[in-house]
Amino acid sequence: MQTISKELPKDLDQKRLPRHVAVIMDGNGRWAKRRGLPRIIGHRQGVDALKKLLRCCDDWGIEALTAYAFSTENWGRPHEEVDFLMALFERVLMRELQEMMEENVRIQFVGNLAVLPPSLQTQIDRSMNLTKENTGIQFTVATNYGGRQEILQATRAIATQVQQGHLKPEEIDEALFSRYLYTANVCDPDLLIRSSGEMRLSNFLLWQMAYAEIYITDVLWPDFGREQFHKALSDYQQRNRRFGKI
Ligand code: IPE
Ligand code: IPE
Ligand code: MG
Repeated sequence: MQTISKELPKDLDQKRLPRHVAVIMDGNGRWAKRRGLPRIIGHRQGVDALKKLLRCCDDWGIEALTAYAFSTENWGRPHEEVDFLMALFERVLMRELQEMMEENVRIQFVGNLAVLPPSLQTQIDRSMNLTKENTGIQFTVATNYGGRQEILQATRAIATQVQQGHLKPEEIDEALFSRYLYTANVCDPDLLIRSSGEMRLSNFLLWQMAYAEIYITDVLWPDFGREQFHKALSDYQQRNRRFGKI
């Protein structure tokens, strides 16, 4: 078996790595189709690619990784595919939890979790509870996540606080609003990676991505590995992040 070096590639600058990387893992279906396989095989391969990326982020000293696993719009897919994905998430969580504990990963799920299958919710709760004291990489999985839905639920919660007299409208600023989002405990993503060439956000982290650097690769998600991640980071380190200044 080939052993993979845990070292950060020499051409990357440790001090200028993104603190938080977000990924839109797209192209599982196309990956399978190209091989004449059912789409679900692509999803299964996609899990392996995510596992590898998580380990790579951990090895290279990235603080947080957020992966888009299922959008609020993905319910519109054939129900066989949706059912497969829900069962896959549950199986993978059960299978990987022990290893995540050993690797000190802190996992959390964001999205409207209350409508997920109850057995999946049980695994989600278990994994979040078990890993919450871990001090390694913050791994966030967006499941039944929609950026607009997230902003609406934050707005409703804030409106309730105002209605009950706990908050004044003029106290609502960016910092406060951010605390009502699912991602209150992580910094905004510095780098967004989308695989399979699509140039859109697809309702992912709309608020948090205000100043993310965007990297799009034609590589399909199941083929996304260390070399592709290395390329994305090299590209990121060439960028001049101006944040509106000159
Ligand atoms: C991304 O791959 C995985 C999910 C959305 C769950 P797709 O399933 O969207 O793959 P393509 O875009 O059809 O190739
Ligand atoms: C975005 O991919 C959602 C996930 C990766 C979970 P989609 O394949 O659903 O996005 P669109 O439909 O191409 O915008
Ligand atoms: Mg897609």
